[in-house]
Amino acid sequence: MTEQKAQQIAARTGIDLEHGAYAAGPAGARRLPPFDVLAVARTEAVIARLRSTQKHPACSRMSWRYQRGGLGQASLHYLETHAPDILLVEVEEDPDRVLAQLAELSQVLEARTRVILINAEAPPDQRLLRDVFKLGVSEFLFPPFAETEVVHALGAVAADIGEVRQGRLTAFLGVRGGVGSSTVAQTVAVAISMFSEAEVILADLDQQTGTVALNFDAVDARTLTDVLRRRSPIDDVLMERLFVPVNERLKLLLVEPSFENAPHLAAPALNAIISLADRRGRQLLFDMPSVWDSRTRKTLAQADHVVITAEPTLGCLLTAQKALESLRGVRGASRDVTLVLNKYRSQRGNAVPDRAFTEMLGLGADQVVRVPADAALFSHAQYSGKSAVQFKEGAAASQALIALAARVNGGLAYGSALPLGQRLAAKLRQWW
Ligand SMILES: Nc1ncnc2c1ncn2[C@@H]1O[C@H](COP(=O)(O)OP(=O)(O)OP(=O)(O)O)[C@@H](O)[C@H]1O
Ligand SMILES: [Mg+2]
Repeated sequence: MTEQKAQQIAARTGIDLEHGAYAAGPAGARRLPPFDVLAVARTEAVIARLRSTQKHPACSRMSWRYQRGGLGQASLHYLETHAPDILLVEVEEDPDRVLAQLAELSQVLEARTRVILINAEAPPDQRLLRDVFKLGVSEFLFPPFAETEVVHALGAVAADIGEVRQGRLTAFLGVRGGVGSSTVAQTVAVAISMFSEAEVILADLDQQTGTVALNFDAVDARTLTDVLRRRSPIDDVLMERLFVPVNERLKLLLVEPSFENAPHLAAPALNAIISLADRRGRQLLFDMPSVWDSRTRKTLAQADHVVITAEPTLGCLLTAQKALESLRGVRGASRDVTLVLNKYRSQRGNAVPDRAFTEMLGLGADQVVRVPADAALFSHAQYSGKSAVQFKEGAAASQALIALAARVNGGLAYGSALPLGQRLAAKLRQWW
């Protein structure tokens, strides 16, 4: 890699490959994104070289899988179901065979998978080099085939993908305390994990009055608060160890609430949590304290989507107006903002008509979700240690929160989005 290319990568990603991955780039010290890498190599020497690359600090967030052998039918079949973010392939000597292998690969690979070819023994001829790049190969590694070359190639792919965050971060907070923001965040997290393939992480950022541990019946689980108290260094490997699984796809990151704690998490801890959204397909949900100060605004600026909860009262309308003003100050006129009108009463009417909310707050109709007041549903669900969606999926409040979950997740495999057969199966499951 030329110095110029390394500088371009550093400018676009903050990853300074020339001076070691921990050197502070323009965006501060950063490691390569948490790619899922699959290496298919014919020789033990290449596997050994890649295994030592894996130990490079820049690669510490990646997960690596290895397959010994060429791109035979078995590995092609495996690729079809276990597509990695990056596929490293040791190719054969014969250029025609390489091109034939690439043609086979293109039949099974997902578009998002980037391919890096390796010939550790000899440089490829110019024609082959031109042809493989035309076919969409990202990099071709040849002698000298050293760890740093592989790290450079991975850095180039990261720069090419451009966007380092691959998952999504959604922040939930109330215009003021007690409006039901945590209930909304927790129910949405469960709904996404139930009705999509996404990996969901629900992080409790409310160090003083957080309710995630309590509501998921996990008060004895390990928390971030323990780690912060011990002043242990925080990185994302540690974060992943703190996850408390709820089901196959939903994991919690908990705090131990106490008024002794500061209202906000310290910046390094917060940044480590935010970087959890780096992994593709992850939905990171923040259950935030309903405090609107400069630290809150900084966190909101980093979210892909902000869900603000209010009750349909005059007091909430006025605070919501201030909250949205403050939000627009940091996020501009982004439409990735949703207002939840919680504890909504359609029968006896609300203190403030909801048109007042949309008009005064300058929101589109699609940006407002109404969740009916249903004290019985939420309190019974809470006592049974379930979320409202699991307790009574058909209730109007559950349905509203499932609709919000679809908005947050960019769609759910639910209701009319499901093929008829699956819809019937879901209905039958409800009855039995
Ligand atoms: N739609 C609803 N109908 C009836 N009760 C609800 C509804 N949504 C939430 N609640 C109840 O409101 C109470 C407060 O909810 P929650 O703790 O989620 O609020 P919060 O905004 O997160 O508060 P805090 O400021 O303490 O973080 C809970 O008892 C919850 O069960
Ligand atoms: Mg709360």
